[in-house]
Amino acid sequence: MRWNRSTHRPIPSERGRRVAPARLERTEVPREGLSIWQPIHLGVDENSRPVHITLAERNLLIGGEPGGGKSGALNLIVGHAALSPDCRIVLIDGKQVELGGWAACADIFVGPNPAAAIVQLTRVQAEMDRRYALLLERKIRKIPPGDPRLAPIVVAVDEVAYYSATVGTKTQQAAVTALLRDLVARGRAAGVITVAATQRPTAEVVSPSLRDLFGYRWAFRCTTPTSSDVILGNGYAKQGYSAVDINPAARGVGWLLAEGGHPRRIKSAFLPDEHITALAQVAAQLRAHRPLPPCATLTGPSDSDGT
Ligand SMILES: Nc1ncnc2c1ncn2[C@@H]1O[C@H](COP(=O)(O)OP(=O)(O)O)[C@@H](O)[C@H]1O
Ligand SMILES: [Mg+2]
Repeated sequence: MRWNRSTHRPIPSERGRRVAPARLERTEVPREGLSIWQPIHLGVDENSRPVHITLAERNLLIGGEPGGGKSGALNLIVGHAALSPDCRIVLIDGKQVELGGWAACADIFVGPNPAAAIVQLTRVQAEMDRRYALLLERKIRKIPPGDPRLAPIVVAVDEVAYYSATVGTKTQQAAVTALLRDLVARGRAAGVITVAATQRPTAEVVSPSLRDLFGYRWAFRCTTPTSSDVILGNGYAKQGYSAVDINPAARGVGWLLAEGGHPRRIKSAFLPDEHITALAQVAAQLRAHRPLPPCATLTGPSDSDGT
């Protein structure tokens, strides 16, 4: 079977011709890598059409009950980012193993350490402020593509509630919440792309005002219409866009809402561990070959980071 690279669908074979076995095991990464400015492949819609989103200048909120497919979705995005040498990557993962496969490609990796999460998110915030000062000086309103000193920074957080409501002191939890909110609220024009997942879609973890700052929202299976609405937006469940109806066995199925549109039911693509390992190796080589210039604001003495 031959595959059409742009549609990711098989090319119909001529009648009567023998069909060769698919060579799906081949990893097709362009030599120069991908770009964070390109659309990111997320999966297929109900008509089997590929679904892409462009994350540059956007943020993405992912929510749903455990086992729905949130970490799988995060891995698709972090995978694209890792293979894009034109962006920086900050990974915050309380479980460590969900995003750990990409650690060698990340500029910053934070495990289950709330103090380290605060240190690193504060650095991203400082870099955001530095960029806004620069934009003001240059009299432009957003970062232009192609400037390595202003490379987009993808901040991926797996399980926001772990840092904002579970571990650490109340002060630390409030600090993480405030930092994330600021990055989501002001990050767009400065090139900070926040992708946050939560398995506790409640208004305490994701307030409506925070949710509304995310241009993209992706709800995997939820247990109540309220929690589905916490992710997608108030009133969607009543209109029929409810993540409660998703079959618990249908892992990776969710409603994706993009700015200005209606939610679309999609089935996410999935990277098994061995694909992540192989892709992360390619990504690390690409990044070593085309390094971004050092960024003083984002780096600091690693011994005090506690990451
Ligand atoms: N798109 C998918 N296709 C097939 N299986 C999937 C998909 N997404 C997730 N899964 C399966 O479901 C399991 C749980 O997914 P995961 O992303 O870890 O859920 P969550 O982070 O929401 O708890 C995965 O280990 C995998 O086996
Ligand atoms: Mg998970």
